[in-house]
Amino acid sequence: THIDWDIDMAEKGGYPDFMLKEIFEQPRVVRDTLVGRLAPTGELDIDELGLTYEQLDVIDRVYVIACGTSYHAGLIAKNLIEGWARIPCEVEAASEFRYRNPIITPSTLVVAVSQSGETADTLAAIRDARIKGAKVFGITNVVGSPVARESDGVIYTKANKEIAVASTKSFIGQVVSLTLLALLLGQVKGKLTTAQVRMLFHELGDTAEQIQWVLDTQKEAVHEAALACKDARSALFVGRGMGAAISNEGALKLKEISYLHAEAYAAGEMKHGPIALIDPGFPVIAVATKSPTYDKTVSNLKECEARGARIIAVATEGDEDIRKVADHVIYVPAVRDALSAITATVPLQLLAREVAILRGCDVDQPRNLAKSVTVE
Ligand code: G6P
Repeated sequence: THIDWDIDMAEKGGYPDFMLKEIFEQPRVVRDTLVGRLAPTGELDIDELGLTYEQLDVIDRVYVIACGTSYHAGLIAKNLIEGWARIPCEVEAASEFRYRNPIITPSTLVVAVSQSGETADTLAAIRDARIKGAKVFGITNVVGSPVARESDGVIYTKANKEIAVASTKSFIGQVVSLTLLALLLGQVKGKLTTAQVRMLFHELGDTAEQIQWVLDTQKEAVHEAALACKDARSALFVGRGMGAAISNEGALKLKEISYLHAEAYAAGEMKHGPIALIDPGFPVIAVATKSPTYDKTVSNLKECEARGARIIAVATEGDEDIRKVADHVIYVPAVRDALSAITATVPLQLLAREVAILRGCDVDQPRNLAKSVTVE
């Protein structure tokens, strides 16, 4: 008998596309990125720290510079670095950073985040920052890449090769790595005790299982939500805090692969403009997981609902109340707010992919986009 072995399917590990395969690899990426990182003494072990604890202790300002999805990982890092280490942290697109005159001193740490490790703008920003005397720390997926070589220290994201143009597993690896860096800074600065670091580290590891739960249980919910927005002309992503940060990533994923216009907004800013867009059926995708600002987000959603918006909420497992305001709910397990970006991003990745497929798009090779951008 003739066996029609599809080489393409084999490469994709039986998944219909690389994007889905890579989304399903995310629990492994979390585990691999964390392997061997916590010494029995409670000290964090970074691949090539490149900086002594004394050098880290004097850091009084952090810039995270990156492009695209990596920039969104930076938005999450800002919350963690400021929250845990109490160091002021700014996040900037590398293409902006390199052409202005940022305030850099020898006690500035520049964290460059780049999956490929070769993005032209990010590299130029690193070079510029070093000339101005900053310490540079790289977060990259490619061992020996220019970003790794040109930084003082580096954390590798252990995502393995990512093929789909829209980044998914690399993003999760970046967020996990940046969380490690924030823990390290918190520890060095004496803002986190060894016991706190250990507890947070273990909770960070637990997100692997939590992602798996989303992948195993929310397929149908994602499909329903995707049907609700596939014919829209535009969509709004909203949230607060960590939710606002990952709304940006949700909107980017949707526009890059489904060509549906999407915009992210901090939920509290809706009334200053975007609410004017809302008419019956307009999709609003909300990150409404349990957090200190949950109630505030829900009242923003009520304002959208009153104007006829079709609301899709990413919410915490067990939250039935959210159904009073949301038409569709995709659940994620309960996790501390600081770690919520890791789990809550997954439904947004799945949603973007499902919408793209329903709209007949090639999810792995979106038009006009390149996997790595090595020219300006
Ligand atoms: C391109 C890719 C994106 C990526 C961005 C930054 O635009 O399509 O997926 O986020 O470059 O790439 P980097 O390799 O620096 O993370």
